[in-house]
Amino acid sequence: MITGKTKIFGVIADPIGHVRAPELFNPIFEERGVDAVMIPFHITPDSLESTVRGLAAMPNCGGVCVTNPHKITMASLCDELDVVASLTGAVNVVRFQNGRLHGHNFDGVGFTAGLEGGGKHSLDDKHILIIGAGGAARAIAAALAYEPIASLTISNRTPKKAEDIVVKLKQYNHDIEFRAIDTLLLDLELANFDIIINTTTLGLNDGDPMPCALENVKPDALIADIIMNPPVTRWMEAAEEKGLKTHAGKYMLDKQVELIGKFLGAF
Ligand code: ATR
Repeated sequence: MITGKTKIFGVIADPIGHVRAPELFNPIFEERGVDAVMIPFHITPDSLESTVRGLAAMPNCGGVCVTNPHKITMASLCDELDVVASLTGAVNVVRFQNGRLHGHNFDGVGFTAGLEGGGKHSLDDKHILIIGAGGAARAIAAALAYEPIASLTISNRTPKKAEDIVVKLKQYNHDIEFRAIDTLLLDLELANFDIIINTTTLGLNDGDPMPCALENVKPDALIADIIMNPPVTRWMEAAEEKGLKTHAGKYMLDKQVELIGKFLGAF
């Protein structure tokens, strides 16, 4: 029951139909007797700043989860950022406190925890490819830089963004080999990776091209997507048809729910 005392939280995105935060948080609020609600807010990039400032000015709005395409712009609007958010320049949660915006990024830790815990896949000594270099890719790359992996390669439609992440990561860890590769060379290199992670938006919509072809992928490689809706992307289906292991996007957010709820002051 929503009353005058109910605390409001939101998830902001464009498009909005695929977001999972309301389905994840509202049952927990109910189960734990928390008088709060998680609402989908469809916010377009041109009105992001004015809308978020309006929400933050509302005393009964506690904050928002942030997803595509707002993660990077939202980070620039925050008054304070945690270490990962400032390293990545991207946030996936913003807490509102007296009109101020506190940004945090749990995507990376959610992904690695999901891979190791939910999916039971080890990261030890693995050669990893990230496709994409947006907000989620940066957060996942930053979290992987703290894991005992062998190498991390990033490939993005706009190559400069992949190169920028690699430059930053090299400053943090000297044991891991970090590289950016051109998408045109990707096919030739695919056989070198143990884990391939799609962080692009390809797969959200019917008819999207695949993030990468699967012909040259090695047979024991793990194909991981971070898209949550559809729960199994066409790329994952194609991988399963080839007998490859897959890891679904849902784990990344599932593992973040407790952390996000605490950060927002909801749990
Ligand atoms: P998120 O916050 O979810 O990471 P984002 O920051 O908007 O979202 O990043 C989206 C990623 O998907 C980017 O790497 C983007 O590539 P560009 O940097 O070249 O824009 C990638 N992407 C989106 N549409 C794509 C497409 N049609 N083909 C290839 N990559 C695409």
